[in-house]
Amino acid sequence: MKTKILVTGGLGYIGSHVVVELQSQGFEVIIIDDLSNSSENVLDGIYSISKIKPLFEKIDLKDRKSVVKFFKNHSDVKGVIHFAASKSVEESTINPLKYYKNNVNPLIYLLHEIGKLSVQKLIFSSSCTVYGQADILPIKENSTLKEPESPYGFTKKIGEKIIKDLCAVNNTLNSVSLRYFNPIGAHKSANIGELTIGTPQNLVPFVIQTGIGIHEKISIFGKDYSTPDGTCIRDYIHVVDLAKAHVIALKRLLEENNIENYEVYNIGTGKGYSVMEIISAFEEISGIKLNYSIKERRKGDIMSAYADTKKANLILNWKPELTLKDALSSAWKWEKKQLKLK
Ligand code: UD1
Repeated sequence: MKTKILVTGGLGYIGSHVVVELQSQGFEVIIIDDLSNSSENVLDGIYSISKIKPLFEKIDLKDRKSVVKFFKNHSDVKGVIHFAASKSVEESTINPLKYYKNNVNPLIYLLHEIGKLSVQKLIFSSSCTVYGQADILPIKENSTLKEPESPYGFTKKIGEKIIKDLCAVNNTLNSVSLRYFNPIGAHKSANIGELTIGTPQNLVPFVIQTGIGIHEKISIFGKDYSTPDGTCIRDYIHVVDLAKAHVIALKRLLEENNIENYEVYNIGTGKGYSVMEIISAFEEISGIKLNYSIKERRKGDIMSAYADTKKANLILNWKPELTLKDALSSAWKWEKKQLKLK
């Protein structure tokens, strides 16, 4: 009998890559997704890689009755990886209530139902946004969590706190929060990747689409930061490496190797790249010269963020295996495939 794992938001960008990794490690996966920012076609992409069609139920986690019903039917779930959430920083500043409703209530409903299971293991999708502009770089897990710059960031901080508080009073519940730095790239098959609906707000999807000719030029948000070339620095992590970290963290919980019943890990590469360096790296892998113009700083942007990854390296025995160029090449291949270009 395979161990059954629930992946909420499993048809999304990171979720779909985690589903494939779980399947390759022999887990049975069941996906819940409300398709608000994904598509059922992703199931075909997953199948084309693993040759296994995961179980899928279209459920909106805000509908508590459906969540209760789901767990009644699947009380044999041995682990939950929770991705389902809204993730646009900008949208969250315009419509904060949507973010508190979508990202907080469903987590509470899930935790209620997980609390009834015989095996209670949860991996939570968190973000480096919980650190705000850290005083010391690289950022360690025990850095002070500053006030997040957006309601989206705040929902991640609250989510972590809810789980931590619950773990403190429920020893049966074991959970890991993974704080991702900047996930980019796609599966090497280019059969799953990041679906961009509308104009992308994040740097790499915008760079890739500019390479393809969808946008005339890239706006660089600020070139007057105190960094070597004046542009912001981020830690870009390949989504496949990130996906592997989830499976390792889950196994740690399932094999009861965790020391605390609530643990937190940074998932990044430990190396920061500036906006200009990302543009140059893309130009190098694609052979395409990109146009750009310098714009005002973007509201809420922090200057520099990159991870101290020692904790994940030593305790999880996880290390990224893929490079920035691997990530950009895979994202490029994925985008061209979306547009059916060679
Ligand atoms: C944001 C979120 C992060 C989330 C990530 C991916 C915050 C502080 N960060 O990261 O939690 O995981 O999105 O969804 O909440 N840039 C340009 N031009 C562009 C787009 C971006 O110059 O057209 C610059 C930005 O100013 C920034 C860097 O590129 O310096 C990276 O931006 P982006 O890809 O949007 O990621 P973050 O803001 O770091």
